Amino acid sequence: MGKREDFIGRIIVALDYPSADEAESLLNQLKGIPCYMKVGMQLFYAAGPSFVLKLKEQGYKVFLDLKMHDIPNTVKGGAASIARLGVDMFNVHVAGGITMMESALEGVDQAVNPSIPKPIVIGVTQLTSTNVTTLNDEIGISGTVEDSVLQYAKLAKNAGLDGVVASPLEVTNIKEQNGEGFVTVTPGIRPIGSNMGDQSRVMTPKEAFDQGTDYIVIGRPITASDDPRKSMENIIEELK
Ligand code: C5P
Repeated sequence: MGKREDFIGRIIVALDYPSADEAESLLNQLKGIPCYMKVGMQLFYAAGPSFVLKLKEQGYKVFLDLKMHDIPNTVKGGAASIARLGVDMFNVHVAGGITMMESALEGVDQAVNPSIPKPIVIGVTQLTSTNVTTLNDEIGISGTVEDSVLQYAKLAKNAGLDGVVASPLEVTNIKEQNGEGFVTVTPGIRPIGSNMGDQSRVMTPKEAFDQGTDYIVIGRPITASDDPRKSMENIIEELK
């Protein structure tokens, strides 16, 4: 593991809150810790682009986790709007297909200019809450979750995306098949002793980084903690 700042900047805290006020209260508690912040649909639909801009003003790197999945033209427009916000990372569902993913990249190219840096564009493979029953019996995809994740990762790579969101359990194979530089962002992180919640394929922060993942996403183990700062500090301590 590199310098302290190196790995703290690769911890993405999921700001899964219903309002800007509640998210800001967490920001106050984590003040001074230079982690990445993730804004997902719950907070974005409530607090909108202005909250994202506020995070950027405060110097945070921001992952806008809106998991776009629509016809290519719509995704292209959405990606351009997201890129104009100046976020550092956003994602689209790989299940939308190669043309849709390529359209997202075209949208980004349309938006970026010298004052808007190019965001990292990530593909969502299978959600970390998806198990083999959901995959086979409900969604109708045969094979194991891992097979499907690896196929989706290859599609994302072929479309030109920078990487994928996946479970830490799949990082080794994803990197092996798509190269070390292909970014992995891994939710499904549970520090020792924390609640699983609805996640089914999990690892501790240290185990996930030991697998070679680039970024870990942690939500409830921090946001639902009685003392979020302490929980974050414990994670950082474990990673040192
Ligand atoms: O609270 P928890 O640590 O489970 O939060 C995980 C975060 O990562 C949530 O914001 C969830 O939306 C997100 N995520 C995920 N699985 C994916 C993609 C994103 O859990 N495949």
